[in-house]
Amino acid sequence: MKKLLVTGGAGFIGGNFVYYMLENYPDIQLVCLDALTYAGNLETLKGAFKNPNFKFVKGDITDRKLVFELFEEEDFDCIVNFAAESHVDRSIEAPEVFLKTNILGTQVLLDACNKFGTERFHQVSTDEVYGDLPLDRPDLMFTEETPIHTSSPYSASKASADLLALAYNRTFGTPVTISRCSNNYGPYQFPEKLIPLMIANATHGKPLPVYGEGLNVRDWLYVEDHCRAIALIIEKGKIGEVYNIGGHNEKANIEVVKTIISVLGKDESLITYVKDRPGHDRRYAIDPAKIHAELGWLPQTKFDDGIERTIKWYMDNTSWWENIFNGKYKSYTAEMFE
Ligand code: NAD
Ligand code: DAU
Repeated sequence: MKKLLVTGGAGFIGGNFVYYMLENYPDIQLVCLDALTYAGNLETLKGAFKNPNFKFVKGDITDRKLVFELFEEEDFDCIVNFAAESHVDRSIEAPEVFLKTNILGTQVLLDACNKFGTERFHQVSTDEVYGDLPLDRPDLMFTEETPIHTSSPYSASKASADLLALAYNRTFGTPVTISRCSNNYGPYQFPEKLIPLMIANATHGKPLPVYGEGLNVRDWLYVEDHCRAIALIIEKGKIGEVYNIGGHNEKANIEVVKTIISVLGKDESLITYVKDRPGHDRRYAIDPAKIHAELGWLPQTKFDDGIERTIKWYMDNTSWWENIFNGKYKSYTAEMFE
């Protein structure tokens, strides 16, 4: 693997993946293509810009002309597609852009791979494509054979992209792999998602909005473990295969919120129960047996360590998230492109 295209690298997981690859694969040439939507933040990539092996291109994965020109210029060996609309709540408010980016954008990238003979297309997907599990059946987990059964416009769009990628593999022989990961946490996560939002609000003594009764369960994985799994898949994963990624780390939302309160030394009276998310998935739980058996992947970061490290990162980098709340992160982007 010599030249890698990372789409959505100005976002949370894509940004962490850019750093992971530059650090662990010093000979790699890495191009990041990102439209810099509200979720894209060039401040996240500040450190990467100093690396001569890194190049940033501002552009939309649905822009076929731009994508094809980029493929022609760069002759990529491998594509890792993180670019997506990723927030379930926003998909309930305004689904259309989810369908456009997550499905049609993926199709443009797959077409470009076919035209330019790219050796590997990796689709970064989610455990949400499997729907949810009951709270009272801890024995049940998602395997790669669990039927697709989506709940939100977001998860339906991600599932559509997965099906399209697998169909391209079968029909055109496109060299596709797919990974379906559980909830990530760590540095650079946009503060509209549960963990960074709670850290930011608790820091300012603001209410912590917990949906419903806070009993919904998510299976949390430290973002670097996800990045390492993707790196392994693009190196050694079998074409046409789906790999689940998760670390057996289920927690009810209220437990996560209380942990953050405790680490920050705040008071539980900040917790405010609010109206539930429509169609709210009850529980996710990934069975990662396949990636462990085939590629030897195991998570390395325990939740207690990862959450402390994450909270410390947000405390040490308050300007990163304050600039999102006050909108300054967008002027930074504008300056870079003037
Ligand atoms: P994010 O919202 O933080 O980042 C998404 C990035 O994609 C942003 O930089 C944004 O500017 C870019 N983008 C959006 N639309 C684009 C377009 N049309 N063209 C080019 N770039 C565009 O998302 P994230 O949490 O980092 O998630 C990354 C991927 O991982 C997504 O595909 C998501 O479905 C998947 N995933 C996320 C999680 C999680 O817990 N966050 C878990 C499993 C899978
Ligand atoms: O499972 C993987 C998915 O995890 C990814 O595919 C998505 O891109 C990612 O956003 C995430 O989806 P969730 O909906 O699980 O993440 P979110 O952080 O939005 O919410 C986590 C849980 O916390 C969920 O049960 C809803 C709840 N929640 C969320 C917010 C933002 C609250 O109780 N209060 C909140 O303010």
